Amino acid sequence: MSRNTDFIPFARPAIGREEERAVISVLRSGWLTTGREARKFEEEFAASVGTSYTLAVSSATAGLHLSLEALGVKANSLVITTPYSFAASAEVIRYLGADPFFLDIEEDSFNLSPENLEKALAEQGERVSAILPVHIAGLPCSMAEILEHAGNYKLPVVEDGAHMQPGEFTEKGDRYRGTLEGTRVYSFYCTKTITTGEGGMVATDRQEVAERIRLMRLHGIDREVWDRYTSKKPSWYYQVEEAGYKYNLTDLAAAIGRVQLRKAAEFLKARKRIAGRYLAALSALDFLKTPQNSEAHGWHLFLLRIVEDRLSIGRDAFVNELQQRGIGISVHFIPLHIMPYYKRRYGYREDDFPTAFKNFRTSLSLPIYPGLTDKEVERVIEAVKHIGSKYYQRRSHGA
Ligand SMILES: Cc1ncc(COP(=O)(O)O)c(C=O)c1O
Repeated sequence: MSRNTDFIPFARPAIGREEERAVISVLRSGWLTTGREARKFEEEFAASVGTSYTLAVSSATAGLHLSLEALGVKANSLVITTPYSFAASAEVIRYLGADPFFLDIEEDSFNLSPENLEKALAEQGERVSAILPVHIAGLPCSMAEILEHAGNYKLPVVEDGAHMQPGEFTEKGDRYRGTLEGTRVYSFYCTKTITTGEGGMVATDRQEVAERIRLMRLHGIDREVWDRYTSKKPSWYYQVEEAGYKYNLTDLAAAIGRVQLRKAAEFLKARKRIAGRYLAALSALDFLKTPQNSEAHGWHLFLLRIVEDRLSIGRDAFVNELQQRGIGISVHFIPLHIMPYYKRRYGYREDDFPTAFKNFRTSLSLPIYPGLTDKEVERVIEAVKHIGSKYYQRRSHGA
């Protein structure tokens, strides 16, 4: 028997017959690109997250780019964010010729620290044009404080919600509605909480921002594709108002998204259950740090950290051991400040953001997705415990 027959993949999309049927129905409809399905998906998503406007886009990266553009981020300004994220969060700032101004993260949440934000705004206030917090793993940032600091400087906030659940966004259990000072951007990449293969959604409460994004996501053309083929104006007629982008979501993708959205609550329940089992089994072990728990956590990722002086092996070897036992593991994230581009451009060193670097050095992501069975969860837990006890080292006396 090859070891791979019982390999537990790190991620597995939850796609069923309903998604297959939805795609077939679009294929047979004769309308494949942005149209009725995309519009319906936007309406249903708006109702789910509780914002006034939603715009379906080809990826979260596209949505972040469009958001910063619509909120007036200009070349040579600064956009405050954290280095503990995927490439997308900072590259979109560079698309506009602005510079990311990285701030170190909170150790336990992996998120933007409101204290660091307050200090940075006091020092850099004039040059900052927006704030881009990332809700890492699906754990909401401290938005009340972040919005308060942003409000003091009249700055827009673009929330990178690529890891968030599309359901009601709650912070400390409260419904999060109507306080959107900028935009919140969701991702439907294949590993995310709901997926369309590739895709994203921008949510906002500001009409002028929604209108600008609507214009810029499709070439800066003054009419949407659907409208061009349904309105009384000649279908060939349109005006190019701006040099826009090609960031629309197809109906094929939107049809999958609509089905996934209907299943989102059930998916979240499954993720919470797995997180609960991991937490119950692993949080008492002194060679591990389990992730911060919260009712509002979307559990896109389960970020486990090893306690370095309790083990004779480091994170890389710990990950290898798990993989040798047939368990798919990932690491989120290699911080952006140690990536060649950012090192070259801004001269960063590892210890410029010590918490981000330490969290990177010690963390690994366990599999967590709706299709993961109880047996598989047990196998992951047993493997983590086993490796921990194999390489456990007691602290030397008096240490
Ligand atoms: C934190 C974060 N932001 C943005 C993105 C970009 O999402 P997309 O692939 O939909 O462009 C990702 C993707 O993994 C991400 O992890």
